[in-house]
Amino acid sequence: MSAQLEQKASYEATFAHNFWKQTLSRVPPIPTHTNLTGKTVLVTGSNVGLGLEAVRNVLRLRPSLVIMGVRSVDKGEKAAAVLRREFPDARIEVWELDMESFRSVQAFATRAERELDRLHVAILNAGLAKLKFERVEEGGRHEVTMQVNYLSTALLSLLLLPKLKPTTSSSEPGRLSIVNSGASLGMSVEDPGDERLLDSFDRPEKFDAFAYYGLSKLLVMMFVAKLAQMINPKEVIVNCTDPGATKGTAFFRNVNSWIMNIGVRAFMGLIGRRMPDASRIYLHSSLVLGEESHGSWTDWIIRCWPKTMYTDQGRKMSEKLWDETLEELKFAGVKGKLQNDT
Ligand SMILES: NC(=O)c1ccc[n+]([C@@H]2O[C@H](COP(=O)([O-])OP(=O)(O)OC[C@H]3O[C@@H](n4cnc5c(N)ncnc54)[C@H](OP(=O)(O)O)[C@@H]3O)[C@@H](O)[C@H]2O)c1
Repeated sequence: MSAQLEQKASYEATFAHNFWKQTLSRVPPIPTHTNLTGKTVLVTGSNVGLGLEAVRNVLRLRPSLVIMGVRSVDKGEKAAAVLRREFPDARIEVWELDMESFRSVQAFATRAERELDRLHVAILNAGLAKLKFERVEEGGRHEVTMQVNYLSTALLSLLLLPKLKPTTSSSEPGRLSIVNSGASLGMSVEDPGDERLLDSFDRPEKFDAFAYYGLSKLLVMMFVAKLAQMINPKEVIVNCTDPGATKGTAFFRNVNSWIMNIGVRAFMGLIGRRMPDASRIYLHSSLVLGEESHGSWTDWIIRCWPKTMYTDQGRKMSEKLWDETLEELKFAGVKGKLQNDT
């Protein structure tokens, strides 16, 4: 439905709108009839911050199993131990998942395939902003970290699709919600001409921490919009979820300038949501909103996409991104996962 909200896109990308949304609107409670009995829920990046708080919110709805997908099992187990004390009847498992490694993403998906009958809800929350331009080694070649974060999110989404699909015709669709950020709302992707779009980010001289963070999230929204066209919402509903600026998370842990630290704290103190409220937005996107949110940008309602996605260039870049993504990830057999769904 975001596709129909073009007229709001310019305004919703403004600071004024976001300031208003952050300070004057309240995240509604989850309807009391919502429950997760008999369901399996995955939250990635859940040892700390919004992911951890989202698990807490999920556990209140009594799922049969929660999987915390974390890059450090040690840190994940420590967080899970606290949750197990709070929710003694809950079944919580900690699974290793490093979003900077395709191998780790593949191993995670293989484990899900092997060990789960069905995955009902996946909330892909793991994310970070890099302050420096970095490349990581992937399959014998180097990838720009930002690309890897986008690509590994795309890879995990595609590999989980079969497990998210209903097992019987009467079952509800699976839910895939990927965490986005308002930082992407005003971003646009430059047309790289004949060059590959994904390669065009591999430019240390162009690197800007905030812009690259916003761009990586824009790529995720473009991917989700296109993915939604490829999969039937009766099988899997896919959307993006935006918690909004949130105070108290570890997101700015790598900021080492004290001036920036003071600035961030002041900004978050002014407009940041509390973690329990912001993480509740994930539940609105993945449980409360329904088929109408397929392919959309959501919080507790459906909002517009980043404004570039309504332009000809944005549409062209989305197509280019989609083709390159499937090509880049073909080593993992992702096209097969999609064909099963069309
Ligand atoms: N905080 C905000 O104002 C805000 C606003 C909009 C959107 N968001 C989005 O919300 C999500 C959570 O952010 P947060 O504020 O809760 O930050 P956070 O407290 O730093 O939590 C980030 C989580 O992601 C994990 N993570 C980072 N890189 C990873 C990787 N390569 N593989 C696996 N896990 C990885 C972290 O694990 P480690 O602890 O091991 O590093 C941590 O569990 C992110 O996607 C962020 O972009 C945040």
